[in-house]
Amino acid sequence: MPESHYEKSLIKAAEYRKKTAPLILGIESSCDETAAAVVRGGRDVVSTSVHTQIPVHRLYGGVVPEIASRSHTERIGSVVRDALDKAGVGLSDIDAIAVTYRPGLIGALLVGVSFAKGLALAAEKPLVGVDHITGHIAANYITYPDLEPTFMCIVASGGHSHIVRVNSYTDFTLIGRTRDDAAGEAFDKVARAMGLPYPGGPELEKLAKGGDTNAFPLHTAFNEGESFDFSFSGLKTAVVNILHNAEQKGETVNKADLAASFQRAVTDALTVKSVRAARDAGLTTLALAGGVSANTTLRERLQRECDKYGIRFCRPDMKYCTDNAAMIACQGHYELLTRDPDELSLDPNAASFLQLQ
Ligand code: KG4
Ligand code: ZN
Repeated sequence: MPESHYEKSLIKAAEYRKKTAPLILGIESSCDETAAAVVRGGRDVVSTSVHTQIPVHRLYGGVVPEIASRSHTERIGSVVRDALDKAGVGLSDIDAIAVTYRPGLIGALLVGVSFAKGLALAAEKPLVGVDHITGHIAANYITYPDLEPTFMCIVASGGHSHIVRVNSYTDFTLIGRTRDDAAGEAFDKVARAMGLPYPGGPELEKLAKGGDTNAFPLHTAFNEGESFDFSFSGLKTAVVNILHNAEQKGETVNKADLAASFQRAVTDALTVKSVRAARDAGLTTLALAGGVSANTTLRERLQRECDKYGIRFCRPDMKYCTDNAAMIACQGHYELLTRDPDELSLDPNAASFLQLQ
């Protein structure tokens, strides 16, 4: 007779693997979105529920960690309830629970992880911790039912800019990463310097629409070099200096031109390096992931570059670009197919497990 929660989990995880269409509940709370989703068979999204904290953090120009944790605590119960209700299922119908346990704001992660542990214990379900970055990559599996590893992926979010070789659903090699600011972080900081609200990425993209991409010769030698690493903080400083110098001279800057030039420099770097990484590795598929994947200029630029070399380009549907729990459930499904579930001692961690070897 199995006694402990973990012994029961191992049995239920084995049952999960045998089912043709198991249901997994995903929970995400790593930054400023409280999210839950029910996914069937790994890729079929039955329901999704997202509560965004953006309006609150906008008042402060960025994410305030303590406010984020408190808001997750207030919302997580109703968000999970909402996802189950929309799916028309109860907790007892769920076969496993996946939760983001790294990387992110530690207090924010703690809310989702604690809640997931409580549910797993009370409802006797296997628990599986998911790395948020691998969740972003998995958003592509939802959009492309036929997509399978191996492929190259460029992950550009608020916290990371990674080129990742996806060797299998659960095995990854970090090929390159940012040496300083992440791509989304650079968008947010430049947007803030231009007086745009948080989160700056989508706002800057809107502003850039009418701008001339060649008005400002923004580029960094580092991003044009051989390395697969990125550097975005120099670009950000260059934009801030242009704004300050103009202000001191009493001149006005065409902000649409500046935004368009900055966006071109970032999207060029992300595109050229990731396509080169795919070609060097002899891979014929390149996927895009992370919040910055919502950027239309980047999506189009990558599509054109991939077309040039006969590479298949994949990017998530818009609703799965920024933080959501469907991608966490999807990755959790593949984790559970290949390894044992986690114990209830699972601890959140601010850092990703993806590190340079
Ligand atoms: O993946 P995500 O939702 O959260 C993290 O894991 O960090 O990414 C959020 C980041 C923010 O920096 C946001 O400004 C950026 O993604 N972002 C965009 C766009 N939409 C979101 N950046 C550029 N263009 C966009 N359309
Ligand atoms: Zn994210």
